[in-house]
Amino acid sequence: MSAARAGWDPRNLPSQHGRVFLVTGANAGLGYFSSEQLSRAGAHVIMTGRNPHRLADARAALRRRVPGASVETMLLDTSNLGSVRAAAASVGARDRLDGVLLNAGVVHPPRERSVTQDGNEVVFATNVLGHFALAGTLLGPLARAGAGRLVWLGSMSTSMWRYDLADPQLERDYSPWRAYVQSKIATQALGVEADRRLRAAGSPVSSIVAHPGYSVSGRTVGIAGVNEPTRTGRFVDNLQAALTQSKEHGAWSPVRALIDPDVEGGSAWGPAVVTKGMPRRARLVSATRSPEVGARLWAFCEETAAVRWP
Ligand SMILES: NC(=O)c1ccc[n+]([C@@H]2O[C@H](COP(=O)([O-])OP(=O)(O)OC[C@H]3O[C@@H](n4cnc5c(N)ncnc54)[C@H](OP(=O)(O)O)[C@@H]3O)[C@@H](O)[C@H]2O)c1
Repeated sequence: MSAARAGWDPRNLPSQHGRVFLVTGANAGLGYFSSEQLSRAGAHVIMTGRNPHRLADARAALRRRVPGASVETMLLDTSNLGSVRAAAASVGARDRLDGVLLNAGVVHPPRERSVTQDGNEVVFATNVLGHFALAGTLLGPLARAGAGRLVWLGSMSTSMWRYDLADPQLERDYSPWRAYVQSKIATQALGVEADRRLRAAGSPVSSIVAHPGYSVSGRTVGIAGVNEPTRTGRFVDNLQAALTQSKEHGAWSPVRALIDPDVEGGSAWGPAVVTKGMPRRARLVSATRSPEVGARLWAFCEETAAVRWP
């Protein structure tokens, strides 16, 4: 594996003029700041989200902060497979798509297990299944771009729980924390498994996992309609300043995974100092690198989402 360029400067990205990226959950947090960094580098960004008003606010904020930015918005609720199909059909017809950031996520799961209108557990549906379906449906335009990339948002929390292959939707034993961690283990495992399958099929598309360390709103610049933490929120987040970083900095690893020419399929990226810092190569917990876990999850997702990757 090549050591991706040591001199990578997330504040001075290589030009992305002429390139097109789609970001899920782009109206807030890491999705917003990734969109901002990509458009500042000259890319056209398709900002997607589930709420038209929040998306409009985010697009307006991005245009204020990046004069001349080339952005559009698109409704995409990752917990709803019909919404995923509709957005994928619209994007799939385009000539080019250079990367998809599979970022949207429920980060504070409901106390009680709840299901979507498709009948899937909400956290699994939003964080995992919708992204699996979206990614599989966008391989055509990603391949047309030559070396399109899928970047999946993993998490350090994956080392804090064991994955239960027999119960991906937590029908037997739900807790909010467990739902979150399982969803992130599944996300990472699918990201790695996707790359195995793309390589085996000779596809030019690659799949990469990135995590943002520990990135909090209260240490992030206030932006109307995008990031408006309360004074208490800022106070609490700043108490943990030694361990945390802003969401702006948290976006550095996913953005590098999307655009650094030296990043290889199947690799993982995260902050240099565990929870914060410059974007560097990272190592994933073994469960998420396991071909057995990847293959079983893949089969489960194909059946549950009724989407077969071409
Ligand atoms: N922040 C961290 O330290 C951290 C650490 C590890 C991993 N991550 C991962 O990074 C990703 C982003 O986290 P964040 O900190 O930026 O969270 P965030 O600030 O809460 O933003 C989450 C984004 O996801 C969107 N979203 C939620 N449900 C959705 C749905 N059904 N359809 C479409 N969009 C939906 C939200 O939109 P609404 O505004 O409409 O809710 C919002 O735009 C998540 O996948 C998270 O698991 C974050």
